[in-house]
Amino acid sequence: MKEDKHALLSSSVEASPEELAASILPDDQEIHHPSGGLQIELGLASSLSVADKDDIWKIFANAMQEMYETSSFCWNPTKKKREMFHKLGRFILVRSKKSTKIVAFTSFRFEEEEEYGVVYCYELHVSPAFHRCGLGRKLTQMLFDICKRRGLDKVMLTVFKGTICRNYPAPRHLSFYGSFKANETAILFYQSIGFTLDPSSPGYGASLPVDDGDDDWEDEGRGYVDEECDYMILSRSVALATH
Ligand SMILES: CC(C)(COP(=O)(O)OP(=O)(O)OC[C@H]1O[C@@H](n2cnc3c(N)ncnc32)[C@H](O)[C@@H]1OP(=O)(O)O)[C@@H](O)C(=O)NCCC(=O)NCCS
Repeated sequence: MKEDKHALLSSSVEASPEELAASILPDDQEIHHPSGGLQIELGLASSLSVADKDDIWKIFANAMQEMYETSSFCWNPTKKKREMFHKLGRFILVRSKKSTKIVAFTSFRFEEEEEYGVVYCYELHVSPAFHRCGLGRKLTQMLFDICKRRGLDKVMLTVFKGTICRNYPAPRHLSFYGSFKANETAILFYQSIGFTLDPSSPGYGASLPVDDGDDDWEDEGRGYVDEECDYMILSRSVALATH
């Protein structure tokens, strides 16, 4: 990684939550919702209260436990909590002013990925009662804003795509790879806000296998998608951050 990029990344890793909050438009720090006002907070994983960690874990587990159990990642709460509340982890929380409960959050870290300085989104979750109100889009936009203001390159994340089964072609509405046990809602969501397959994703550059009569070795030579791998890495460059 070039020195200037490295310096930008290091200063981001060291930035205080207050400095990062300055990257987010003031208008974004209050959200109106029919259930009452919602407020945005930025913080470090290390400064979350026990009650907030509990809310975060419940929202995550409700949405993801089953998906993890049927994935190559497996369901391991101890390991997952260690990752989620890692000392380098940062959170943007959406909190109900009325109940003071967290209703949505994203967690992220500043990382170097193949010469790029990135905001790696580790988690993005919206409580079911608040789905389709634009909170997911708003939190992702904040990650873009932070990424852009810090001079970094892109926002990245990992999503379950399932594994390809040749007997079950891709649902027509998914332009990503055909999949089994995919997180379809998340894929549709990320597609709608402009994420595309990152070059570091397993199977990048591949297309759905088509039996064109050629020998298999040739298909493999073209780098067809890794059918064994049930996740993919998506990204969006800050150059495309406004939507
Ligand atoms: C994925 C998730 C974060 C989306 O959050 P959200 O706040 O409901 O999404 P938004 O309201 O911002 O939706 C933005 C756009 O995404 C698309 N979208 C969102 N949910 C969708 C769904 N269920 N089906 C189809 N498209 C969807 C739509 O285009 C939507 O725009 P529209 O409502 O104007 O049509 C939310 O469904 C969630 O928390 N899911 C469970 C956890 C999860 O899977 N997280 C991702 C892990 S990688």
